[in-house]
Amino acid sequence: MSEYTITYIKNENPKEKPKSDELSFGKYFTDHMFIQDYNQERGWHNPRIVPYKPIELDPAAIVLHYGQMVFEGLKAYRTERDKIQLFRPDKNMERLNRSNDRMCIPKIDEEFAIDAIKHLVHIDQEWVPDALGTSLYIRPFIISTEPYLGVSPSATYQFMVILSPVGTYYEEGINPVKIAVENQYVRAVKGGTGEAKTAGNYASSLKAQEQVADEGYAQVLWMDGVEKKYIEEVGSMNVFFKINGEIVTPALNGSILEGVTRNSVIQLLKHWDIPVIERRITMEELYEHHQKGELQEAFGSGTAAVISPVGELAWEGTKMEINDGKTGEIAKRLYDTLTGIQYGSEKDPFNWTAKVKY
Ligand SMILES: Cc1ncc(COP(=O)(O)O)c(C=O)c1O
Repeated sequence: MSEYTITYIKNENPKEKPKSDELSFGKYFTDHMFIQDYNQERGWHNPRIVPYKPIELDPAAIVLHYGQMVFEGLKAYRTERDKIQLFRPDKNMERLNRSNDRMCIPKIDEEFAIDAIKHLVHIDQEWVPDALGTSLYIRPFIISTEPYLGVSPSATYQFMVILSPVGTYYEEGINPVKIAVENQYVRAVKGGTGEAKTAGNYASSLKAQEQVADEGYAQVLWMDGVEKKYIEEVGSMNVFFKINGEIVTPALNGSILEGVTRNSVIQLLKHWDIPVIERRITMEELYEHHQKGELQEAFGSGTAAVISPVGELAWEGTKMEINDGKTGEIAKRLYDTLTGIQYGSEKDPFNWTAKVKY
Protein backbone atom coordinates (compact mmCIF):
# COMPACT_ATOMS: atom_id res chain seq x y z
CA MET A 1 0.00 0.00 0.00
CA SER A 2 1.34 3.44 -0.89
CA GLU A 3 2.28 5.83 1.93
CA TYR A 4 -0.44 8.00 0.42
CA THR A 5 -3.42 5.66 0.51
CA ILE A 6 -5.91 6.97 3.02
CA THR A 7 -7.46 4.24 5.15
CA TYR A 8 -10.90 4.79 6.66
CA ILE A 9 -12.53 3.58 9.84
CA LYS A 10 -16.18 4.56 9.98
CA ASN A 11 -17.66 6.05 13.12
CA GLU A 12 -20.41 3.63 14.10
CA ASN A 13 -21.76 6.00 16.73
CA PRO A 14 -22.43 9.27 14.89
CA LYS A 15 -23.34 12.26 17.03
CA GLU A 16 -26.49 14.29 16.89
CA LYS A 17 -25.91 17.39 14.79
CA PRO A 18 -26.53 20.81 16.33
CA LYS A 19 -29.33 22.97 14.92
CA SER A 20 -28.30 25.85 12.67
CA ASP A 21 -29.33 28.49 15.19
CA GLU A 22 -27.20 26.88 17.90
CA LEU A 23 -23.99 27.16 15.93
CA SER A 24 -21.53 29.76 17.10
CA PHE A 25 -17.82 29.37 16.37
CA GLY A 26 -15.85 26.17 16.93
CA LYS A 27 -18.02 24.50 19.57
CA TYR A 28 -19.11 21.33 17.80
CA PHE A 29 -17.01 18.72 16.03
CA THR A 30 -17.96 16.20 13.37
CA ASP A 31 -17.82 12.39 13.44
CA HIS A 32 -14.42 11.88 11.81
CA MET A 33 -10.91 13.30 11.72
CA PHE A 34 -7.85 12.89 9.54
CA ILE A 35 -4.48 11.85 10.97
CA GLN A 36 -1.07 11.28 9.36
CA ASP A 37 2.18 10.48 11.15
CA TYR A 38 5.73 11.58 10.52
CA ASN A 39 8.99 10.03 11.53
CA GLN A 40 12.48 10.35 10.15
CA GLU A 41 12.58 6.88 8.60
CA ARG A 42 9.31 7.00 6.71
CA GLY A 43 8.55 10.70 6.35
CA TRP A 44 4.81 11.44 6.29
CA HIS A 45 2.98 8.11 6.34
CA ASN A 46 -0.14 6.21 7.42
CA PRO A 47 -2.81 8.73 6.45
CA ARG A 48 -6.16 7.73 7.88
CA ILE A 49 -9.65 8.96 8.53
CA VAL A 50 -10.92 7.69 11.85
CA PRO A 51 -13.74 8.41 14.31
CA TYR A 52 -13.28 11.78 16.05
CA LYS A 53 -11.89 11.14 19.51
CA PRO A 54 -9.35 12.46 22.03
CA ILE A 55 -5.76 11.74 21.08
CA GLU A 56 -3.14 10.08 23.21
CA LEU A 57 -0.03 12.15 23.72
CA ASP A 58 3.03 11.58 25.87
CA PRO A 59 3.10 14.22 28.64
CA ALA A 60 6.64 15.06 27.52
CA ALA A 61 5.55 15.71 23.90
CA ILE A 62 7.43 18.77 22.63
CA VAL A 63 4.24 20.55 21.56
CA LEU A 64 3.01 20.67 25.16
CA HIS A 65 6.14 22.42 26.40
CA TYR A 66 7.61 24.47 23.59
CA GLY A 67 4.62 24.92 21.30
CA GLN A 68 6.23 23.58 18.14
CA MET A 69 3.08 23.42 16.04
CA VAL A 70 1.30 25.07 13.13
CA PHE A 71 -2.32 25.31 12.07
CA GLU A 72 -4.65 26.56 9.38
CA GLY A 73 -8.26 27.62 9.05
CA LEU A 74 -10.51 27.37 5.99
CA LYS A 75 -14.13 26.53 5.29
CA ALA A 76 -16.41 24.28 3.25
CA TYR A 77 -19.60 25.93 1.97
CA ARG A 78 -22.88 24.36 0.89
CA THR A 79 -24.19 26.05 -2.24
CA GLU A 80 -27.83 26.68 -3.14
CA ARG A 81 -27.65 23.73 -5.51
CA ASP A 82 -26.46 21.52 -2.67
CA LYS A 83 -22.89 21.27 -3.85
CA ILE A 84 -20.06 21.58 -1.36
CA GLN A 85 -16.98 23.62 -2.10
CA LEU A 86 -13.81 24.95 -0.49
CA PHE A 87 -12.37 28.43 -0.94
CA ARG A 88 -8.72 28.62 -2.08
CA PRO A 89 -7.47 25.57 -0.15
CA ASP A 90 -4.21 25.76 -2.12
CA LYS A 91 -3.43 29.10 -0.44
CA ASN A 92 -3.96 27.63 3.01
CA MET A 93 -1.71 24.66 2.28
CA GLU A 94 0.98 26.97 0.88
CA ARG A 95 0.80 29.02 4.06
CA LEU A 96 0.87 25.87 6.19
CA ASN A 97 4.15 24.95 4.55
CA ARG A 98 5.54 28.45 5.08
CA SER A 99 4.59 28.13 8.76
CA ASN A 100 6.18 24.65 8.81
CA ASP A 101 9.38 26.10 7.48
CA ARG A 102 9.47 28.79 10.21
CA MET A 103 8.71 26.28 12.97
CA CYS A 104 11.19 23.59 11.76
CA ILE A 105 8.38 21.16 10.96
CA PRO A 106 8.74 18.89 7.90
CA LYS A 107 6.73 20.12 4.94
CA ILE A 108 3.61 18.33 3.84
CA ASP A 109 2.57 17.43 0.29
CA GLU A 110 0.14 20.27 -0.44
CA GLU A 111 -1.87 18.52 -3.11
CA PHE A 112 -2.22 15.40 -1.04
CA ALA A 113 -3.32 17.47 1.96
CA ILE A 114 -6.05 19.13 -0.15
CA ASP A 115 -7.22 15.70 -1.29
CA ALA A 116 -7.26 14.47 2.29
CA ILE A 117 -9.34 17.49 3.36
CA LYS A 118 -11.79 16.93 0.50
CA HIS A 119 -12.02 13.26 1.41
CA LEU A 120 -12.75 14.04 5.06
CA VAL A 121 -15.33 16.73 4.23
CA HIS A 122 -16.95 14.34 1.79
CA ILE A 123 -17.30 11.70 4.50
CA ASP A 124 -18.76 14.22 6.96
CA GLN A 125 -20.74 16.11 4.31
CA GLU A 126 -23.98 15.97 6.28
CA TRP A 127 -22.28 18.20 8.81
CA VAL A 128 -21.95 21.08 6.32
CA PRO A 129 -24.83 23.30 7.45
CA ASP A 130 -27.13 25.00 4.96
CA ALA A 131 -28.51 28.05 6.79
CA LEU A 132 -27.44 31.48 5.57
CA GLY A 133 -23.96 32.45 6.76
CA THR A 134 -23.13 29.00 8.15
CA SER A 135 -20.32 26.73 6.96
CA LEU A 136 -18.03 23.91 8.00
CA TYR A 137 -14.81 25.26 9.48
CA ILE A 138 -11.77 23.12 8.66
CA ARG A 139 -8.84 23.11 11.07
CA PRO A 140 -5.69 21.38 9.75
CA PHE A 141 -2.83 21.35 12.28
CA ILE A 142 0.51 19.69 12.93
CA ILE A 143 1.88 18.95 16.38
CA SER A 144 5.30 17.81 17.52
CA THR A 145 4.92 14.54 19.38
CA GLU A 146 8.39 13.43 20.41
CA PRO A 147 8.69 12.93 24.19
CA TYR A 148 11.76 15.05 24.93
CA LEU A 149 12.34 18.00 27.23
CA GLY A 150 15.30 19.46 25.36
CA VAL A 151 14.59 22.53 23.27
CA SER A 152 15.03 21.16 19.78
CA PRO A 153 12.81 20.25 16.83
CA SER A 154 10.82 17.09 17.32
CA ALA A 155 11.69 13.88 15.46
CA THR A 156 8.02 12.89 15.16
CA TYR A 157 4.82 14.75 14.25
CA GLN A 158 1.14 14.27 13.62
CA PHE A 159 -0.80 16.12 10.95
CA MET A 160 -4.49 16.24 11.79
CA VAL A 161 -7.63 17.77 10.35
CA ILE A 162 -10.78 18.34 12.37
CA LEU A 163 -14.07 19.88 11.24
CA SER A 164 -16.52 22.13 13.04
CA PRO A 165 -19.89 23.41 11.78
CA VAL A 166 -20.01 27.16 12.45
CA GLY A 167 -22.41 30.08 12.37
CA THR A 168 -21.36 33.66 11.82
CA TYR A 169 -18.18 34.59 13.68
CA TYR A 170 -19.43 37.73 15.34
CA GLU A 171 -22.87 37.61 16.82
CA GLU A 172 -23.33 41.03 15.22
CA GLY A 173 -23.04 39.41 11.71
CA ILE A 174 -21.96 41.92 9.03
CA ASN A 175 -22.73 44.80 11.40
CA PRO A 176 -19.78 46.99 12.31
CA VAL A 177 -17.67 46.00 15.30
CA LYS A 178 -15.76 48.11 17.78
CA ILE A 179 -12.02 47.60 17.89
CA ALA A 180 -9.53 48.88 20.47
CA VAL A 181 -6.02 49.92 19.44
CA GLU A 182 -3.52 48.05 21.63
CA ASN A 183 -0.76 50.25 23.02
CA GLN A 184 0.71 48.11 25.77
CA TYR A 185 1.07 44.55 24.50
CA VAL A 186 2.42 43.43 21.13
CA ARG A 187 1.56 40.33 19.12
CA ALA A 188 4.67 39.80 17.04
CA VAL A 189 7.90 41.37 15.87
CA LYS A 190 9.77 41.15 12.62
CA GLY A 191 12.06 38.12 12.84
CA GLY A 192 9.67 36.44 15.27
CA THR A 193 6.84 34.10 14.33
CA GLY A 194 4.08 36.60 13.46
CA GLU A 195 3.83 35.57 9.84
CA ALA A 196 3.51 31.91 10.78
CA LYS A 197 0.22 30.50 11.97
CA THR A 198 1.44 29.01 15.21
CA ALA A 199 -0.11 28.68 18.66
CA GLY A 200 2.23 31.00 20.54
CA ASN A 201 1.10 34.07 18.58
CA TYR A 202 -2.43 33.47 19.77
CA ALA A 203 -1.51 32.60 23.36
CA SER A 204 0.38 35.88 23.61
CA SER A 205 -2.62 37.83 22.33
CA LEU A 206 -5.06 36.64 24.99
CA LYS A 207 -4.19 39.17 27.69
CA ALA A 208 -4.86 42.21 25.52
CA GLN A 209 -8.00 40.63 24.14
CA GLU A 210 -9.32 39.90 27.62
CA GLN A 211 -8.77 43.46 28.79
CA VAL A 212 -10.69 45.10 25.95
CA ALA A 213 -13.49 42.52 25.88
CA ASP A 214 -14.71 43.85 29.24
CA GLU A 215 -15.15 47.27 27.63
CA GLY A 216 -17.25 45.93 24.76
CA TYR A 217 -14.55 45.73 22.07
CA ALA A 218 -14.64 42.73 19.74
CA GLN A 219 -10.89 42.56 19.12
CA VAL A 220 -7.69 44.60 19.38
CA LEU A 221 -5.80 46.33 16.59
CA TRP A 222 -2.13 45.46 16.93
CA MET A 223 0.67 47.93 16.38
CA ASP A 224 4.17 46.90 15.27
CA GLY A 225 6.25 45.27 17.98
CA VAL A 226 9.15 47.72 17.89
CA GLU A 227 7.84 51.28 17.78
CA LYS A 228 4.17 50.51 18.52
CA LYS A 229 3.37 53.03 15.86
CA TYR A 230 2.60 51.21 12.65
CA ILE A 231 -0.70 49.42 12.19
CA GLU A 232 -0.37 45.65 11.73
CA GLU A 233 -3.58 43.62 11.97
CA VAL A 234 -6.57 42.72 14.11
CA GLY A 235 -6.75 39.57 16.31
CA SER A 236 -7.78 37.19 13.53
CA MET A 237 -8.11 39.56 10.59
CA ASN A 238 -6.05 41.71 8.31
CA VAL A 239 -7.15 45.31 8.12
CA PHE A 240 -8.06 47.79 5.38
CA PHE A 241 -8.85 51.53 5.40
CA LYS A 242 -10.54 53.64 2.76
CA ILE A 243 -8.82 57.01 2.80
CA ASN A 244 -9.86 59.62 0.25
CA GLY A 245 -11.17 56.93 -2.11
CA GLU A 246 -8.01 54.83 -1.93
CA ILE A 247 -7.83 51.53 -0.04
CA VAL A 248 -4.78 51.19 2.20
CA THR A 249 -3.66 48.02 3.94
CA PRO A 250 -0.47 47.46 5.98
CA ALA A 251 2.26 45.96 3.80
CA LEU A 252 3.42 42.46 4.75
CA ASN A 253 6.50 42.99 6.87
CA GLY A 254 7.38 39.66 8.41
CA SER A 255 5.20 40.01 11.49
CA ILE A 256 1.75 40.21 9.87
CA LEU A 257 -0.08 37.01 8.90
CA GLU A 258 -0.65 36.92 5.16
CA GLY A 259 -4.39 36.34 5.01
CA VAL A 260 -6.01 34.38 2.20
CA THR A 261 -8.97 36.76 2.44
CA ARG A 262 -6.58 39.75 2.35
CA ASN A 263 -5.07 38.44 -0.87
CA SER A 264 -8.57 37.90 -2.32
CA VAL A 265 -9.69 41.41 -1.31
CA ILE A 266 -6.67 42.97 -3.01
CA GLN A 267 -7.33 40.96 -6.18
CA LEU A 268 -11.01 41.93 -6.22
CA LEU A 269 -10.26 45.63 -5.69
CA LYS A 270 -7.75 45.58 -8.55
CA HIS A 271 -10.28 43.76 -10.70
CA TRP A 272 -12.79 46.54 -9.98
CA ASP A 273 -10.22 49.27 -10.71
CA ILE A 274 -10.43 50.57 -7.17
CA PRO A 275 -7.02 51.92 -6.10
CA VAL A 276 -5.45 49.71 -3.43
CA ILE A 277 -2.04 50.15 -1.87
CA GLU A 278 0.00 48.05 0.54
CA ARG A 279 2.17 50.33 2.64
CA ARG A 280 3.19 51.25 6.16
CA ILE A 281 0.63 53.37 7.96
CA THR A 282 0.84 54.79 11.46
CA MET A 283 -2.04 55.18 13.87
CA GLU A 284 -1.25 58.90 13.97
CA GLU A 285 -1.70 59.22 10.23
CA LEU A 286 -4.99 57.35 10.42
CA TYR A 287 -6.17 59.64 13.20
CA GLU A 288 -5.29 62.75 11.18
CA HIS A 289 -7.27 61.44 8.21
CA HIS A 290 -10.14 60.79 10.55
CA GLN A 291 -9.99 64.33 11.95
CA LYS A 292 -10.06 65.75 8.42
CA GLY A 293 -13.01 63.56 7.48
CA GLU A 294 -10.89 61.55 5.03
CA LEU A 295 -11.18 58.16 6.70
CA GLN A 296 -14.22 56.79 4.92
CA GLU A 297 -14.20 53.12 5.88
CA ALA A 298 -12.32 50.56 7.93
CA PHE A 299 -12.80 46.81 7.76
CA GLY A 300 -11.11 43.55 8.65
CA SER A 301 -10.75 40.48 6.42
CA GLY A 302 -10.47 36.85 7.50
CA THR A 303 -11.82 33.38 6.88
CA ALA A 304 -13.94 33.35 10.01
CA ALA A 305 -15.67 36.73 9.61
CA VAL A 306 -15.11 37.22 5.83
CA ILE A 307 -15.36 41.04 5.93
CA SER A 308 -15.98 42.79 9.21
CA PRO A 309 -16.64 46.53 9.07
CA VAL A 310 -15.14 48.58 11.89
CA GLY A 311 -17.58 51.17 13.22
CA GLU A 312 -15.42 52.46 16.03
CA LEU A 313 -11.72 52.52 16.79
CA ALA A 314 -10.67 53.40 20.33
CA TRP A 315 -7.19 54.92 20.53
CA GLU A 316 -5.50 56.62 23.46
CA GLY A 317 -8.74 57.69 25.09
CA THR A 318 -10.42 58.91 21.90
CA LYS A 319 -13.21 57.10 20.14
CA MET A 320 -13.00 57.40 16.39
CA GLU A 321 -16.36 56.74 14.83
CA ILE A 322 -16.00 55.57 11.22
CA ASN A 323 -18.64 56.01 8.53
CA ASP A 324 -21.18 56.97 11.25
CA GLY A 325 -20.71 53.49 12.71
CA LYS A 326 -22.27 51.94 9.62
CA THR A 327 -21.13 49.31 7.10
CA GLY A 328 -19.32 51.02 4.24
CA GLU A 329 -19.99 50.58 0.55
CA ILE A 330 -16.70 48.83 -0.24
CA ALA A 331 -16.95 46.50 2.76
CA LYS A 332 -20.47 45.53 1.71
CA ARG A 333 -19.48 44.96 -1.91
CA LEU A 334 -16.52 42.81 -0.88
CA TYR A 335 -18.61 40.85 1.60
CA ASP A 336 -21.35 40.20 -0.97
CA THR A 337 -18.89 39.21 -3.68
CA LEU A 338 -16.72 36.97 -1.50
CA THR A 339 -19.66 35.20 0.12
CA GLY A 340 -21.33 35.01 -3.31
CA ILE A 341 -18.30 33.17 -4.70
CA GLN A 342 -17.94 31.00 -1.59
CA TYR A 343 -21.61 29.97 -1.58
CA GLY A 344 -21.71 29.58 -5.36
CA SER A 345 -24.33 32.28 -6.07
CA GLU A 346 -21.79 34.47 -7.95
CA LYS A 347 -19.41 33.66 -10.77
CA ASP A 348 -15.91 32.62 -9.76
CA PRO A 349 -13.76 34.49 -12.26
CA PHE A 350 -10.51 33.64 -10.47
CA ASN A 351 -11.16 29.92 -10.06
CA TRP A 352 -11.01 30.20 -6.31
CA THR A 353 -13.42 27.43 -5.39
CA ALA A 354 -12.63 23.71 -5.25
CA LYS A 355 -15.49 21.21 -5.35
CA VAL A 356 -15.86 18.54 -2.70
CA LYS A 357 -19.29 17.35 -3.80
CA TYR A 358 -20.54 17.91 -7.33
C1 LIG B 1 -3.56 36.79 13.03
C2 LIG B 1 -4.43 36.62 11.84
N1 LIG B 1 -4.43 37.57 10.89
C3 LIG B 1 -5.17 37.45 9.78
C4 LIG B 1 -6.00 36.36 9.58
C5 LIG B 1 -6.81 36.26 8.33
O1 LIG B 1 -6.30 35.25 7.50
P1 LIG B 1 -7.25 34.47 6.48
O2 LIG B 1 -7.87 35.48 5.59
O3 LIG B 1 -6.35 33.53 5.76
O4 LIG B 1 -8.27 33.76 7.31
C6 LIG B 1 -6.05 35.36 10.54
C7 LIG B 1 -6.89 34.18 10.37
O5 LIG B 1 -6.44 33.18 9.91
C8 LIG B 1 -5.24 35.48 11.70
O6 LIG B 1 -5.24 34.53 12.64
